[in-house]
Amino acid sequence: MRTDDRKTISIWDIRAKEIQTLGNKLKLEYQWVAEDHVEILSSYLNERLSDMTFGLCHGTRRGAEQGWFTKHLTGHPAVIGTEISDTATDFPATIQWDFHDTKDEWTGAADFVYSNSWDHAHDPYKAFGAWVSSLKPGGFMFLDHGPNYDPKRVNELDPFGMSLKGLETLLNQQFDGIGSCVEVIEGGMHKTIPIITLAFRKHATA
Ligand SMILES: C[S@@+](CC[C@H](N)C(=O)[O-])C[C@H]1O[C@@H](n2cnc3c(N)ncnc32)[C@H](O)[C@@H]1O
Repeated sequence: MRTDDRKTISIWDIRAKEIQTLGNKLKLEYQWVAEDHVEILSSYLNERLSDMTFGLCHGTRRGAEQGWFTKHLTGHPAVIGTEISDTATDFPATIQWDFHDTKDEWTGAADFVYSNSWDHAHDPYKAFGAWVSSLKPGGFMFLDHGPNYDPKRVNELDPFGMSLKGLETLLNQQFDGIGSCVEVIEGGMHKTIPIITLAFRKHATA
């Protein structure tokens, strides 16, 4: 067993960070998710959870979604966003952080985790592992889905694509005994594109 806190980083991690940072800067003015979608997800949480204290959003670019969750959730909990690019700290409630990595203070701390950026993960098993580990028992992980997550659309910037059914199967297998996918939420529209959200829930006893 390792007794120190050494960390290794691969050439793939470095390359992925460069590509994602470049993509982030090219699209820095662009906001993908709309406030009404976050409002729908907030209503879903408000109906199911009480005393929410903390949430996490991954891959947030301009920091908008974490602000909208705080605004629409009962009790206005703290919601932090992660962003790999060095532009992260130009935006509110955002830290520069690779969402594949766990952070000790987040373990078991979040009422919910939200991401519309999971298709940017170069190691989705590692990313989902980190996200589910940060959930409180009974907490929710929301992953948006739509035509833009189609496996046929993968490229260097969006290296992971999966059908909704495939994503559901992956999560149910990876987290067997820890949690499961519980619902597909109709999340409104992004311009002309419908957004749906796969809701995964950690077991209350996990
Ligand atoms: C499609 S954009 C979505 C931005 C935002 N959520 C929105 O709705 O406008 C994906 C964002 O995720 C960031 N990102 C990509 N890989 C990441 C990683 N490993 N950790 C944290 N952020 C990442 C990118 O830099 C980019 O800003």
